This record gives sequence, structure tokens and C-alpha cells, in this order.
Amino acid sequence: MNYNECIELARGRVGKVCKACPECNGRACGNKMPGPGAKGIGDTAIRNYNKWKEIRVQMDTLVKKRPIDTSLSLFGKTFRYPFFAGPVGAVNLHYGDSLNDVSYNDILVSACAEFGIAAFTGDGTDSNVMVAATRAIKNAKGFGIPTVKPWNIETIREKMALVHDADPFAVAMDIDAAGLPFLQNLNPPAGSKSVEELKAIREAAGVPFIVKGIMTVKGALKAKEAGAAAIVVSNHGGRVLDQCPATAEVLEEIAEAVGGSMKILVDGGIRSGTDVFKALALGADAVIIARPFVTAVYGGGREGVESYINKIGAELKDTMAMCGVASLDEITRDCVRR
Ligand SMILES: Cc1cc2nc3c(=O)[nH]c(=O)nc-3n(C[C@H](O)[C@H](O)[C@H](O)COP(=O)(O)O)c2cc1C
Repeated sequence: MNYNECIELARGRVGKVCKACPECNGRACGNKMPGPGAKGIGDTAIRNYNKWKEIRVQMDTLVKKRPIDTSLSLFGKTFRYPFFAGPVGAVNLHYGDSLNDVSYNDILVSACAEFGIAAFTGDGTDSNVMVAATRAIKNAKGFGIPTVKPWNIETIREKMALVHDADPFAVAMDIDAAGLPFLQNLNPPAGSKSVEELKAIREAAGVPFIVKGIMTVKGALKAKEAGAAAIVVSNHGGRVLDQCPATAEVLEEIAEAVGGSMKILVDGGIRSGTDVFKALALGADAVIIARPFVTAVYGGGREGVESYINKIGAELKDTMAMCGVASLDEITRDCVRR
């Protein structure tokens, strides 16, 4: 199965809003939530996608031909490629009920681990989602990253107990989920956290703690102060705040401020190995791709995930070869131009 066949199959299974487009660029789903769209006027996901395309790669084939090494080392683990599958929660609501979060994460986590990368899992108001997600990660020998929502501290501690049992190599919190309506209305209150609160959560995590949803240097410095091992430069695919900048617009300044002192991941509209290359050139250590993995799983299950990983990996390898670099360390700022 190749990825095109996979999205053809997904088209019949992903419900009313997602059109399983050949290129997932945010246009067809616009501001449709429920659905995989973006909040408000709905142009932030589109902007995420478009801004990567404004960055161009610098060709250089006047180099000695060398084997290309795309492997990434992160938190004591080695991965085949510097990209991860992103957390997506409530898949049945947003995409269609041929899968739910339990069956989706089971397929995604195991397939990603099998084919050399790792998946982040999402979280939800249904407590079974985290139970099943951490079970899937445990079955994958810890090759997966549970992503806990910023609930109140008692709930977070309960979820962290599940996380510890799964023994993942890292745990994340999508701190920007503060912008999701269901979190805003909770009692006891959930959502935004102070640096002190984030420190306590990081201590409860016990493994490298990743703060997902940073869009400013100020936010990155606060995550660093709280002791985060990594941040994800992310606007949640435009789903939490209308009219954010694109992640490609803010990545470089954030990387300049905190790169080297913590790991930097980025997501939002990254749709090819060439986009992965651009993100690394602008200072990211790795990237996350979310929505296209949903169509991969709905369309092709385990084989869909395999085909998508192979597609993005092959594109990255080709871009590296054509830009004269042989390892991820060699992808530097001068490899791209704005
Ligand atoms: C339907 C849907 C559900 C999502 N659920 C979660 C979630 O539970 N936790 C989370 O951290 N991010 C969640 N995200 C955000 C993604 O992980 C990612 O940050 C965002 O979609 C941008 O990446 P992309 O453009 O590659 O999709 C969700 C995104 C979508 C479209």
C-alpha cells in the first residue's frame, strides 16, 4: 500500500468534515470543529501549512557522496527519523466512528514503534482514553509519549500514575489545551498553569517532561524555568486560539532563545520530508505530524502508518542528499532561505 491508496480508502471512512485531501492543508475543513478544522475564522491551520512553503531549501550537490543518516537520538532512545506522530483525541467525534481513541491509539502506537518512530497519544474527558493509551504504550515497551491535558493537579496525579506504569521515555502536556471549550468549563478549574504549578507537574512526571503549545520566547523561557526537558512549538493546529502566527514564523526566534538548553519540537502543517528538513534548519531537533497520521490509520491501519512513515522518510533523505548533508546535525540555518 502506498500513501495515495491509503487516503483513497480513508475518504470513505473519515466522516463528513475531513475530506482526506491529497495534501492536508486546512482548506477543506476550515473552521469546522467538531471536525479537524481550526478555531474562529479558521485560517491558522492554513497559515501553518503555507508558511513552510515560503521557506525554500538550498541545493548543494558539490559534495562527496556519503550514506545519509536520518536517525535521531532523544532522551536515551534512537529513532529512524526525526518526526513523531502527533496526539489526536476524540477521533470518533472529529473524524468518524469506524475508530475510537482506544482502537486508534492501539494501531498508531504499535505501528509507529514497529516502523522506527514513536507516537504521542491524546487525552480526553473519558478516563478510559488515558488508560488505553498508556496500555498501548506499555505494550510498545515505552515507545510512545502520553500527552496529559492540563487538568487540576489531583487529576493530573491520577493520570501520572497510569503514565508511570507504562514507563514511557517521556511524557507531554498540551498546555495550550487551555483554549479548548470543554477544559474552560471544568470544575475544579483546569487550563492555564503558573510556572510553580508546572514545576510540580514536571516533578510528578518523573521522566523527561515535554510542554506542548509554546508560541513565544516568553512562554519558552517559562517552560525552561519549570524544568521542561523539551517544548513543542505549536498552536494546536489552530484549534485553541484564533489568528495565531504560524509555527514556522516563530520557531527560529524561540530556538535562538532556548535551543541548546532544551530540546525543541515543532508541529503545524508539516506535510513532507522537505518541510521536516526546513524545521530542523530553523532550529528544531524534531517535528510532530498529526492530522495526516489520522488518515493513514483510518485508511490503511498499520500498513497506512508504514506507508506514511516511509513517504516522509524518503522525502527527508532525498532533500538531505540534494542539499549536501549526511546527518541531522549537518542541517543548519544556511540550508534554507526565507
Ligand atoms: C481532531 C484533533 C484532535 C487533537 N487532539 C489533540 C490532543 O488530544 N492533544 C494534543 O496535544 N493535541 C491535539 N491535537 C493537536 C495536534 O496534536 C497538533 O498539534 C496539530 O494538529 C498540528 O499538527 P498538524 O498540522 O500536523 O495536524 C489535535 C488535533 C486535531 C486536528
